[in-house]
Amino acid sequence: MKILLVGSGGREHALAWKLAQSDSCEALYCAPGNAGIEDSAICVPIKVDQIEELVNFAKEKSIDLVVVGPENPLVDGLGDAMNAANINVFGSSAKAAQLEGSKGFMKDLCAKYNIPTAKYGRFTELDKAQKFIESAGLPIVVKTDGLAAGKGVIICETEGQAIEAARDMLSGDSFGAAGHEVIIEEFLEGEEVSFFALADGKTILPLTSAQDHKRVGEGDTGLNTGGMGAYSPAHFMNDDIERQIIENLIEPTIAGMAAEGCPFTGVLFAGIMVKDGVATLLEHNVRFGDPECQAIMMRLQGDLAQILLAGSQGRLDEVKDQISWSDDVAICVVMAAKGYPAAYEKNTIIKGIDQANKVKDVHVFHAGTAKDGDGNIISVGGRVLGVTAIGSNIAKAQEQAYRAVDLINWDQGFCRRDIGWRAL
Ligand code: AMP
Ligand code: GLY
Repeated sequence: MKILLVGSGGREHALAWKLAQSDSCEALYCAPGNAGIEDSAICVPIKVDQIEELVNFAKEKSIDLVVVGPENPLVDGLGDAMNAANINVFGSSAKAAQLEGSKGFMKDLCAKYNIPTAKYGRFTELDKAQKFIESAGLPIVVKTDGLAAGKGVIICETEGQAIEAARDMLSGDSFGAAGHEVIIEEFLEGEEVSFFALADGKTILPLTSAQDHKRVGEGDTGLNTGGMGAYSPAHFMNDDIERQIIENLIEPTIAGMAAEGCPFTGVLFAGIMVKDGVATLLEHNVRFGDPECQAIMMRLQGDLAQILLAGSQGRLDEVKDQISWSDDVAICVVMAAKGYPAAYEKNTIIKGIDQANKVKDVHVFHAGTAKDGDGNIISVGGRVLGVTAIGSNIAKAQEQAYRAVDLINWDQGFCRRDIGWRAL
């Protein structure tokens, strides 16, 4: 089949790498892609928000399957536009993407279908938000309703801080339209895990778990980022926690979405807090995690193209036996531009990626990279590379990943040296 992958990050490089290995993949295009994706796919200069251009390209090339990486184009209706053009698309409708696109929608779904999640309120007026904050305990979490590139969540230690966060969001000052409604919720303690499942509207195909490292600094300190590293599976997963996640969090979500008239198709990424062996939902996303996806793709065995095609056609029940997971542990260490997640320099030259790729059981996935006129790999984003390794245990995988990191010559970059520490 001919496949069009939409996106340009490390997640999309990992998906491209795996799709290109699928026997059933005859041609792979990626819009817009990056310098690493070029090794697995033909990159086409169409941005993820150019919905009409993406549909026209898919028609022109007789694309059999469109795979959408990031959430924004799904929220904006790329899935619906492909469906309207009779093109198979792995990714949700705009209505179903509200699971990620509106935290209020997601929380109300949880309330209606008894899905365990933090207690919450939805507010568009500051005085009501303030009363709620004053009557709830501390710490308390203030969130934008809409998409804010992973930055619209503020954990507040004092009432004053929470009221200020709500004020800044509601006024539009801090997050524009995404903050015109805020969700204020109870702070959950515990250890976080990401769990992924495919869904085709009715059938659920549980995948696997991963643990992300969201803070910029070692020991999970400093500012929140999109993710500085991940490993899979999460060290504390067991059959009981997995059963709770599937039965209490994922199944009622998929059933609830169908009952609400917006069946969910694509990959559901549940962000979960586990405390004393009990799993509670933090949030849903409608895509693979980045960098969780890089670790997960290293462990996936099976023809990813066939599995995603089945997902797009309501046939997931037919491919349940075609997917399996390596028992090994995979780890992804993100290399970011110095300064990230605040301001950072762009267009700096990175050397040594080829040598790093030669380290046994390692693959370097590109995120924010491009090629300059001389063919050098240059940085064009905050998170730039995902050095990913697989090994029989976390220590071995970590050792290989950092061996590869140390072969990369990039003065303007940095990484955390402790990815996987909770598992060690
Ligand atoms: P979200 O965008 O909802 O995933 O939030 C980003 C991060 O904020 C999560 O990964 C958690 O680390 C943290 N977080 C969000 N909501 C809560 C909560 N209710 N209690 C504790 N931590 C939270
Ligand atoms: N790594 C977290 C996310 O993709 O949202």
